[in-house]
Amino acid sequence: MTLVNKNPLKLEAWKKLEKHFKATKNIRIDEYFKNNFCRAKEMSCSWEGFFIDYSKNKIDKKSLLLLKELALEANLPEAIKAYFKGEQINKTEKRAVLHTALRNFCGKPILLDGKDIMPEIQVVRNKMKKFSNKIINGQWKGYTGKRITHVVNIGIGGSDLGPSMVTEALSFYKNHIKTYFISNIEGDHVIEVLKKCPVESTLFIIVSKTFTTQETISNANRVKKWFLKSASPNSISKHFIAISTNLEKISEFGINQKNVFPMKDWVGGRFSLWGAVGLSISLSVGYENYERLLKGAGNMDLHFKNTPIENNIPIILSFISLWYNNFYKSESEVVIPYSEYLKNFPAYLQQASMESNGKSVDRNGSQVDYQTGTLIWGATGTNAQHAFFQLIHQGTKLIPADFIGFKTSLYNEREHQDKLMANFFAQTEALMIGKNEDELKNEDVANELVPFKTFKGNRPSNSILIEKLNPYNLGALIAIYEHKIFTLGVIWNIYSYDQWGVELGKKLANKVLEDFELEKNNPHDMSTKQLIKLYKNP
Ligand code: F6P
Repeated sequence: MTLVNKNPLKLEAWKKLEKHFKATKNIRIDEYFKNNFCRAKEMSCSWEGFFIDYSKNKIDKKSLLLLKELALEANLPEAIKAYFKGEQINKTEKRAVLHTALRNFCGKPILLDGKDIMPEIQVVRNKMKKFSNKIINGQWKGYTGKRITHVVNIGIGGSDLGPSMVTEALSFYKNHIKTYFISNIEGDHVIEVLKKCPVESTLFIIVSKTFTTQETISNANRVKKWFLKSASPNSISKHFIAISTNLEKISEFGINQKNVFPMKDWVGGRFSLWGAVGLSISLSVGYENYERLLKGAGNMDLHFKNTPIENNIPIILSFISLWYNNFYKSESEVVIPYSEYLKNFPAYLQQASMESNGKSVDRNGSQVDYQTGTLIWGATGTNAQHAFFQLIHQGTKLIPADFIGFKTSLYNEREHQDKLMANFFAQTEALMIGKNEDELKNEDVANELVPFKTFKGNRPSNSILIEKLNPYNLGALIAIYEHKIFTLGVIWNIYSYDQWGVELGKKLANKVLEDFELEKNNPHDMSTKQLIKLYKNP
């Protein structure tokens, strides 16, 4: 059974939620706390090294019960089964969605079209392990006999954001290999990276599920040209690796078949770091650490699959998100990791979430008459506090926030960690409590300044407190958000695993390029014509 097709607005629970929203929308979050001393405890849950406190939200027990009813009416439990069983839940591309199989270590088979896919996953894992070890221990030599010291991942979107975010996040666990990422089709970006790379000891990994993406293929060709200025074509096999589903295009590019790590069409680009696309991670932190990342995600999968809704972390977070998005009409959610290691996490989540749930057509192909995908943005705390928190505290918009932090500093910098985490907790408190006129007056604030210094508070947040930033916990954290995205897509009755919305721009870019390179005069609107003309004749 694939996903069912139900307009969420027509569900009984939705109507009840609307009523409940009207009845509770003006209740302040801090009032809930005044009326229930157990709220913090009741609205928290933990899993292994994770503690999630979602009590600072505009929700009560009834909202959660009704959201659960909604999820049940939307057949969420069956959808979860279909997802993990490899049914074709990516219907518009006729594909299963099985990135979860890549981190399955249960020893049980996962069948796709009647065939167990676990043995081939294991083959790729073994190949990644062997290859990573050879590069790291210097057994693999470049064309002049030198060991590899630099690795450059060439890819974009899911072929870049996941590996680059994780590599950065796990810098503490990094070995001697320097890792770089080339993504944008900007020559200057390519050259800046190449400037740092010794040609004799750099390995290039070309990552593209399709191997047709303009950015990646142009960048790979540019890099190959640079390489061939110093080395002969025979040396390509020592320096170029490909990760893709498109074996034909790889061999056209000149990459040796034994240097190919396969991708599968049942893994979406934005969920691909768990397989061969994670090679740059494995090279950077060693295969053992990479496998710990997979295991963290895999165990979070089990939590998501097997835990009752009321204690299920990804589901609870998706409920809260839906509640603000569809009832409070919040336009965005902010994600604030209190760790510089996670500075790329918001950008990673933007693709994972917005490419998945940025849809306005439901599973019937009809326009939806409700809001779907939320805007995701964010930056690390405390930096963000000194940048955009003003708007979150005193602006006109309601912006639910996810605060993410760790109990331990990796270098045991206790004093700094205390200050960092003091800021995390204080911000969630300030957002909720605010500061009223009376308090300001008691502090002798001049009357004319009172309106400017008032904080209305009542601004929601989730706190995600994790023992320590390590590969395992990072894997689990990413998986939480992946399953939150899935759950929202199920309730919104959309297809979360295609991305047709990126196609039009790609096609038009090729048309404009024809105008540049072949002097074609393709039809365009007047504004675009003007820009093209100006660019060509400065
Ligand atoms: O343009 C969006 C997209 O298709 C993403 O979904 C994908 O992650 C990215 O481009 C890169 O695609 P590929 O891995 O095929 O080069």
